[in-house]
Amino acid sequence: MDTITKLSFLLSTLTFSLSVLGTTSYSSSSSSSSPLENFFQCLSNHSPPSYPASNAIYTPKNSSFLSILHMHTYNNRFSSRTAPKPLAIVTSLHVSHVQGTIICAKKYDLQIRIRSGGHDCEGLSYVSDVPFIILDMFHHDSVDIDVENGTAWVEAGATLGKVYYYIAKKSQVHAFPAGVCPTVATGGHFSGGGYGNLMRKFGLSVDNIIDAKIVDVNGSILDRKSMGEDLFWAIRGGGGASFGVILKWKIKLVSVTPKVTVFKVQKSVEEGAAKVVYKWQQVASELDENLFIRATFDIVNGTQTGKKTVNVTFIGMFLGLTDKLLPYLNDSFSELDLKKSDCIEIPWVNSTLYWYNYPIGTPIEALLDVPKEPLYSNFKTMSDYVKKPISEGDLGSILEFMMIKSDRMRMEWNPYGGKMHKISASETPFPHRKGNLFLIEYLTSWDEDGIEAKNLYLNMAKTFYDFMTPWVSNSPRKAFLNYRDLNIGANYPSNATTKVDIARSYGIKYFQGNFHRLVHVKSKVDPHNFFRYEQSIPPLFH
Ligand SMILES: Cc1cc2nc3c(=O)[nH]c(=O)nc-3n(C[C@H](O)[C@H](O)[C@H](O)COP(=O)(O)OP(=O)(O)OC[C@H]3O[C@@H](n4cnc5c(N)ncnc54)[C@H](O)[C@@H]3O)c2cc1C
Ligand SMILES: *[C@@H]1O[C@H](CO)[C@@H](O)[C@H](O)[C@H]1NC(C)=O
Ligand SMILES: *[C@@H]1O[C@H](CO)[C@@H](O)[C@H](O)[C@H]1NC(C)=O
Ligand SMILES: *[C@@H]1O[C@H](CO)[C@@H](O)[C@H](O)[C@H]1NC(C)=O
Ligand SMILES: *[C@@H]1O[C@H](CO)[C@@H](O)[C@H](O)[C@H]1NC(C)=O
Ligand SMILES: *[C@@H]1O[C@H](CO)[C@@H](O)[C@H](O)[C@H]1NC(C)=O
Ligand SMILES: *[C@@H]1O[C@H](CO)[C@@H](O)[C@H](O)[C@H]1NC(C)=O
Ligand SMILES: *[C@@H]1O[C@H](CO)[C@@H](O)[C@H](O)[C@H]1NC(C)=O
Ligand SMILES: *[C@@H]1O[C@H](CO)[C@@H](O)[C@H](O)[C@H]1NC(C)=O
Repeated sequence: MDTITKLSFLLSTLTFSLSVLGTTSYSSSSSSSSPLENFFQCLSNHSPPSYPASNAIYTPKNSSFLSILHMHTYNNRFSSRTAPKPLAIVTSLHVSHVQGTIICAKKYDLQIRIRSGGHDCEGLSYVSDVPFIILDMFHHDSVDIDVENGTAWVEAGATLGKVYYYIAKKSQVHAFPAGVCPTVATGGHFSGGGYGNLMRKFGLSVDNIIDAKIVDVNGSILDRKSMGEDLFWAIRGGGGASFGVILKWKIKLVSVTPKVTVFKVQKSVEEGAAKVVYKWQQVASELDENLFIRATFDIVNGTQTGKKTVNVTFIGMFLGLTDKLLPYLNDSFSELDLKKSDCIEIPWVNSTLYWYNYPIGTPIEALLDVPKEPLYSNFKTMSDYVKKPISEGDLGSILEFMMIKSDRMRMEWNPYGGKMHKISASETPFPHRKGNLFLIEYLTSWDEDGIEAKNLYLNMAKTFYDFMTPWVSNSPRKAFLNYRDLNIGANYPSNATTKVDIARSYGIKYFQGNFHRLVHVKSKVDPHNFFRYEQSIPPLFH
């Protein structure tokens, strides 16, 4: 934060703190009121008597401010004592609070950050170097399943775990394709694409969304029909926070078999992991679309004390039973050496727990557990796309580099193909379709506090990313929005204007040619760039 921003941030906090000292409500409204006081007054005026704004607003003066702030901050890197804090948090209790927050923040020139589940990998829903207000959507978390029609309305604050749980309560043969982590919320997850182990059969979450309700820059509530197809296209993968506030999504449920088969097979480097990964690259995106096999790379203690090694775990999900899976894999991927004893047949909803490492037999109520404290250590994610198989020798070098240089990192390789390759690159803003063998997620995490550890591990992450350059997509190097990474470019939200050529640096990597259509939509629906943040889509003429 530069000195001027820091100063104005402090001043506005101070002004507010002083102003509340002598008052018990937000009702004072002299002409010398601060923008923040004016905002509170305005929000009160926009709230119905049954949902007073005072029940929704938290400032640093409220004793529960920090617990509300941290209830949905999932990356400790941004929740330290010194991390920038919002001026206020509006925990919306009613759609009028969403409308009021937009109208009043715009009127008093205050920036907002929108948060649903708080999993943004760079914390962009709850930290910023400019003064800001969090519009927190976690109370909007209803899930309404219409099993006869095979659809559901899910609110932005509903977690994936909750969506999976309520689908299963109504039906064992319905499912929804989305992420593995049950605490991620639909607000951010769907608007960034949303992928999981059903992707090869059914595509991304956004490929299965049929309607949405949002609040636009004027505070109007729009659905698919009233927002029009351009905006409906943009919010399904272009990042919702550049265009409005997502209230809820209408999703199309998909059909699964009453039982699915899951398995884990582990290979250490000594056991020839590189050879199996080499074959995995050739086949994983070509296999039957009912089968999804992720490869994860973890640094573990080797057999010799003091030595590290890498274990590769192949985690599988098959929409069918073991007796069909075993001969199929024996034919197409015998290197995996899958055994009957590795395979577990369970209902789809139980498989969502298995994939999140819960033991078999865990009651599905675990899907509703929402940790009240930040769950994760400090972490940094980055992503890559691979279009050509990496040679066995090069895979060996990658594993070696990981062991020696990046002992806090893990990788997940997720195969594409199937439905992902049948959908055109411009169907949604998410462009990474045909031609991609797999997506790499890099996840570097550490428990140590402090700036030194942070710099050490951020550098470690970057060193590995640089090392991977020869084997991944280029010109430009592509990235996945849901694994948000500020290293690939960012704009300055302290500036009222965000030039398109700055946004292009990250926009093309996330969206390729779709970036231009996103800019076009943005120019129509938010020409004055109210909905802006560190990696937002700017309007063309501003
Ligand atoms: C542990 C973990 C596991 C993950 N696993 C997967 C996975 O399996 N598959 C996958 O695709 N991704 C995965 N992700 C990435 C995840 O999908 C994204 O971080 C997603 O944006 C999180 O959504 P959220 O609502 O929880 O986060 P938030 O931090 O609340 O929001 C993320 C972004 O969306 C915006 N936003 C949030 N709510 C709204 C709204 N209502 N209207 C408009 N904009 C909004 C925010 O402003 C921010 O820019 C994972 C992330 C973590 C930390
Ligand atoms: C926060 O404090 C203010 C001032 O005391 C109060 O009016 C408001 O109701 C408090 N917020 C909540 C959610 O209780
Ligand atoms: C199914 O959809 C139709 C048309 O939208 C609607 O009239 C009907 O009520 C829905 N069925 C149920 C069980 O809600
Ligand atoms: C690594 O994998 C091997 C099997 O290939 C297994 O025996 C060992 O326990 C694994 N190590 C860890 C730490 O998981
Ligand atoms: C790995 O080895 C180190 C010592 O070399 C030890 O401190 C640590 O506990 C070991 N980790 C596991 C998971 O066994
Ligand atoms: C696997 O394939 C080999 C030959 O390709 C065959 O001999 C063997 O019986 C098969 N095993 C199973 C379990 O199908
Ligand atoms: C699946 O979930 C149900 C419901 O919670 C539970 O009773 C059952 O034990 C689970 N089955 C397995 C195999 O995990
Ligand atoms: C935004 O502001 C920063 C610092 O104040 C400045 O360096 C930068 O050039 C500005 N960017 C644009 C696009 O105006
Ligand atoms: C918002 O309101 C302004 C002023 O009334 C109008 O010009 C503009 O078209 C509206 N924007 C949208 C997206 O409806």
